[in-house]
Amino acid sequence: MTMLNVQVNRDRLWHSLMDLARIGATDKGGVRRLALTELDGEGRALVCRWFREAGLDVTVDRIGNLFARRPGIDPSLPPVVSGSHIDTQPSGGKFDGNYGVMAALEVARTLNERKIHTRAPYEVAIWTNEEGTRFTPVMMGSGVFAGAFELDYALAQRDLDGCSVQEALEGIGYAGDAQVGGRSIGAYYEAHIEQGPVLEDLGHTVGVVTGALGLRWYDLVFTGQDSHAGPTPMRLRKDALLGAARIVEGVNRIALDRQPDARATVGFMQVSPNSRNVVPGSVRMSVDMRHPRDDGLDAMEMDLRALSDNVAAALDLRAELTRVTSYAPVRFNEACVNAVREAAHRFGYRHSDIVSGAGHDACYVARVAPTGMIFVPCEGGISHNEIENATPEDLEAGCNVLLHAVLASAGIAA
Ligand code: GLV
Ligand code: MN
Ligand code: MN
Repeated sequence: MTMLNVQVNRDRLWHSLMDLARIGATDKGGVRRLALTELDGEGRALVCRWFREAGLDVTVDRIGNLFARRPGIDPSLPPVVSGSHIDTQPSGGKFDGNYGVMAALEVARTLNERKIHTRAPYEVAIWTNEEGTRFTPVMMGSGVFAGAFELDYALAQRDLDGCSVQEALEGIGYAGDAQVGGRSIGAYYEAHIEQGPVLEDLGHTVGVVTGALGLRWYDLVFTGQDSHAGPTPMRLRKDALLGAARIVEGVNRIALDRQPDARATVGFMQVSPNSRNVVPGSVRMSVDMRHPRDDGLDAMEMDLRALSDNVAAALDLRAELTRVTSYAPVRFNEACVNAVREAAHRFGYRHSDIVSGAGHDACYVARVAPTGMIFVPCEGGISHNEIENATPEDLEAGCNVLLHAVLASAGIAA
């Protein structure tokens, strides 16, 4: 059955996205809604209201992941699940994550409206703390769900103010009681803006995502010595920030030496005591490295370790380098990738295969369920930025592809 006449409602999808974007809206048109803050709680409450209005049954698990279920005619079948996240970066946009959740909800609304009964149940998922900006590790809720790390480990993580994930979940009322994971999923699909320039450059509407770069995150702490900026001669300094500056340059070089595959970024730094007239005695920084192959990540890590040892030795600093997150490059399930490609093809959308540069909840879910992703272009390839933008038409196209991939996996009742 092709059912190409069944399509999602572009305006409803767009208006839901815009309504959700009001919660935590920034002056520059973006969204600041960090994981498990009061604003995240408000966002969850609004989306849960929409879930209930669509007749979906909402479950919350112990890491705060939300699942909103629409029954299938065969309850013995595992559900087909689609979703993403609604937490954002500190200066995030309206679409990253939010699109995947609103698109998955739009699929349920369309099925309701058209009175389509699927064979397998259908669930919309909101994964907790995908961004990893307030609490590490990134993709926390889906990571626990997929068994990538332990629930207790995730619940014990703390933000910079000392608040734990468990406390934050309780604070906003989303410390649920359902077991995290351990249940079967028939297929998982996630729609997302591309967050890069490839589709826009090609003039294509849909990205058929075949996999994602592997990722490693590190914490690096340099310890030197605080001292007076005036009297301390240059030769006696133990300047941790000077070390950090060399790391920023060196990390950039590690990626530049491996083009076009590698990416490497220092995105976070805390300088202590952070005072104009004190030689900084301590710096804490992050390093984010990505590559499509494990051996590439291994080589980048070796370079990073050598770099930090050499910088520390040259400047008389102590270096502590810790790997805090790691996941291998991902290949999505062939049948799911084909279902996405097939749907894009049947709609006549210009499409191409693409590898995700960003991490997504789908990367962890892929460990426990057949998984595929759908990308749509975003303006200028800009994301993790308040000006992030996408057109209603492209978002509609991605959502139509999602709807038909879901139907292909869930089956339609005769
Ligand atoms: C997720 O946002 C990532 O860091 O790729
Ligand atoms: Mn995202
Ligand atoms: Mn993101």
